[in-house]
Parts: sequence; C-alpha cells; structure tokens
Amino acid sequence: MPSSSNSIDPTFDDVLKDDHARLSRTIREFDRTDIGSRVTELPSDLRDVKTILVTGGAGFIGSFLVRKLVVLYPEYHIYVVDKLDYCGSLHNLKMIKDFPNYTFIKGDITSSDFMAFILKEKKIDIIFHLAAQTHVDNSFGDSFEFTKNNVMGTHVMLEAAKVHKVRRFIHVSTDEVYGEVPDCAEDTILAPSNPYAATKAAAECLVKAYHMSFGLPIMITRSNNVYGPYQYPEKITSKFVCSLLRRGKWQVFFIIYFYIHGQGHNSRKYLYAADVADALDVIFHKGSVGETYNIGSAFEISNLMLAKRLIGMFGYTQEQQVNDHLEFVQDRAFNDKRYAVDCSKLEKLGWAPRMGFDDGLRKTIEWYRQCTDEWWGDIAGALVPHPFKALPSYNGSTVLDN
Ligand SMILES: NC(=O)c1ccc[n+]([C@@H]2O[C@H](COP(=O)([O-])OP(=O)(O)OC[C@H]3O[C@@H](n4cnc5c(N)ncnc54)[C@H](O)[C@@H]3O)[C@@H](O)[C@H]2O)c1
Repeated sequence: MPSSSNSIDPTFDDVLKDDHARLSRTIREFDRTDIGSRVTELPSDLRDVKTILVTGGAGFIGSFLVRKLVVLYPEYHIYVVDKLDYCGSLHNLKMIKDFPNYTFIKGDITSSDFMAFILKEKKIDIIFHLAAQTHVDNSFGDSFEFTKNNVMGTHVMLEAAKVHKVRRFIHVSTDEVYGEVPDCAEDTILAPSNPYAATKAAAECLVKAYHMSFGLPIMITRSNNVYGPYQYPEKITSKFVCSLLRRGKWQVFFIIYFYIHGQGHNSRKYLYAADVADALDVIFHKGSVGETYNIGSAFEISNLMLAKRLIGMFGYTQEQQVNDHLEFVQDRAFNDKRYAVDCSKLEKLGWAPRMGFDDGLRKTIEWYRQCTDEWWGDIAGALVPHPFKALPSYNGSTVLDN
C-alpha cells in the first residue's frame, strides 16, 4: 500500500497494537470493571517477559486472570492450557478470543511430553498454575482424580518448568491447606482435613522442594473461598443462586431447595473472583521469589446465613418463605468449622479487595440470570446435595456390602 510522505507504514507490531486497542473497546462494562487496572511499575527483571502460560485458564478464577492479563498487558502473549473438564468452559474466554496476544491450547497438564513441548515451543517465561480438581464434595468420592490432577499434574508442571528454566512459577493453592486453624499466617504448619485440601498441600510440598533443590523461582498463593460469575455451579454461592433461579422458573411444577450441609453453622470468608485475579497480578509483579502469600477477606458468613441472604435478595423476605427454601441434609464426611487467614503480607504489596459482598452477590446473580443454560449444558447434577463420583473400583459394586 502506498504511503504518504508524512506517514510511516505501520509495522506488524503497530497493527497488533491497533487490533488490541480496538478489541479492548468491545469488552462490555460488566467485565471491564472486573478486569480493573494494571500494575504500573514493573520490576526491572520482568520488563522483558514476553510469554505467560495459565493452566486451568478456562475455569472460574483462571478465566478472570486470563481476561485481565490479555486486556491489560498487550506486551505479554497469554497461553492457556486447559483440558476443558466438566467445570471449564471456552465460553469463559470468548470475549477475548480474537485478541492478538491470546492463544488457547486444549491439553492435559498430567502429560509430561505435552507440557515440555508447549513450554519449549512457546518459549514460556512465566507460569500461573491453577489447573486442578477443585470441589471438596467430589474429593470424598473419586479422590484418586485429585491426586492425579493436583499432585501429579503439579509435579509434571514443575519438572517442565525446571527443565525449561521459567522465570516465575506461581502456584495457586488454597486456605484449606491450613485446616481449621484460626487467623493463619503463611508460616503456619499445614493440617488439611479433606482429600482435596490434602492434595493441594502435597502439591505445595513439591513446589517448595523444587525451589529448595533446584532453585526454581516459585511463589505460592493461598486464597479464601472465591465467588462470582463464570463459576460452574457446584460450589456454595453459585449453586444457591442457580437453585433459586430454577425455582423462579419452574416453581409451578416442583420445589427446589437450598441444601444445607449439617446445621449450616460452618462459616467461610469470601472473596470476589476479580479481587483474587488482582491479587495474583500484584503477587506476580511485586512479590518475592520463594514466598507464600495468603489472599484473604475480612468478610465471613455462615453457610446458613449466606443461604438466607441470597433468598432475601430474590425477594423472599418473610421467615416462612425463607424457611420454605431450606432443606437440611447430612453433613460432609468432614467439614471444617471455619478458615481464616492473615493476609497482611499481601496488603503490604498494595493489594486490597475492591468488591463489597452484597454488590458482588448482586453482580453474580445478574450474570447467572443471563448465562446458565448456554454455558455448561445441563447443570442439574451439580445442584444435588452431595455430588458424588465413587472410586472406580467401588463404583456400583456390592462387594463392600457382602
Ligand atoms: N474456587 C475457590 O474458591 C478457590 C479458593 C482457593 C483456591 N482455589 C484454587 O484456585 C485454582 C482454580 O480454582 P477454580 O475455582 O477456578 O477451579 P475450576 O474448577 O473452576 O477450574 C479448574 C480448571 O482446571 C482445568 N483442569 C483440571 N484438571 C486439568 C488437567 N489435568 N489439565 C488441564 N486442565 C485441567 C479444568 O478444566 C478447569 O477449567 C485451583 O487450583 C483451586 O485449588 C480455588
């Protein structure tokens, strides 16, 4: 194309930049506010970072992080590796699919050949490792899946990262590794009490061992319960919201209850998913290698009070109406009374949650009102009191009864 004397033909980079800016303007306000803002000053040793891999990026928290990195950091190319398990969805990433700095790769992190290939081929600098089996209820059944994906999967990622010499390995863990201990600082001894938490703790041990033995530049994050849009509706908040929406739709035919485990007195602290994505961004850019960071919220609520709050938000305010929605079912095999973490270390890096709990709930409800059916297909199996997939050897077998 001929160029006029006072203009310069755009370079390929300029074209990509223009494309990125154009696509950024198409992100709707609903997601834009969650994407937030970028860390302004990058440390000198990260200024030449070009590639970031996010494992589990089609899942709930991963997709918040990917949307944030892709939109705010055009200088990084973001690769997502996800096997698209039942809880992951490409719908979570569809608003960024045309961005020039984003690539999705379907694959399984437990395959060492595959991961070694991806890290080498894409010249990966940084890894955010989120891929995992994440639902505690499921871990009381087929817990081998948790060991395979969470422990073996992390081990595969670490080995590939070591061989390929990545510049940061940010391992996303959970406050559940502490068990019921109150107000834990990061140096608290881990005491997980369910199979999911045990596999996350085991994965952390491997992460730390790769740091000590091989000098792998790792960071670990441990977060409170996370809620928000884009979450497969098996976890408490999204499950309650979807149950209520279904009740609104089909109440003429049958009643859908909020299933409360035990008496519902167990309490949890909650963080909105965009606040967790902010925290991961801050930890990556401002945190120190070898450190662990709690990501915590001051807001705590019991399962029962959460259910009542949501029922109220749907306009059922009289006590009888509220009680009509509740059904108390058998408790989990083990159910930690509460988790609480001390997150002062992260706050010193400049992070604070942006979203208030009621505003976050309203935004979450609004999203599920629009999106549930198209997102994951039939979600009925997730709304039962205790989703349960037995270990393969015992599945449907009467051996134990004889
Ligand atoms: N949701 C929470 O409340 C919470 C709280 C603290 C920590 N975490 C941690 O954050 C991370 C993300 O959690 P989430 O809630 O977004 O989970 P999620 O269940 O929504 O998503 C997990 C994603 O990982 C993918 N995945 C699973 N196994 C894989 C494999 N072998 N190979 C490739 N992809 C695989 C799934 O397809 C899915 O997209 C997890 O490591 C979890 O332990 C979650």
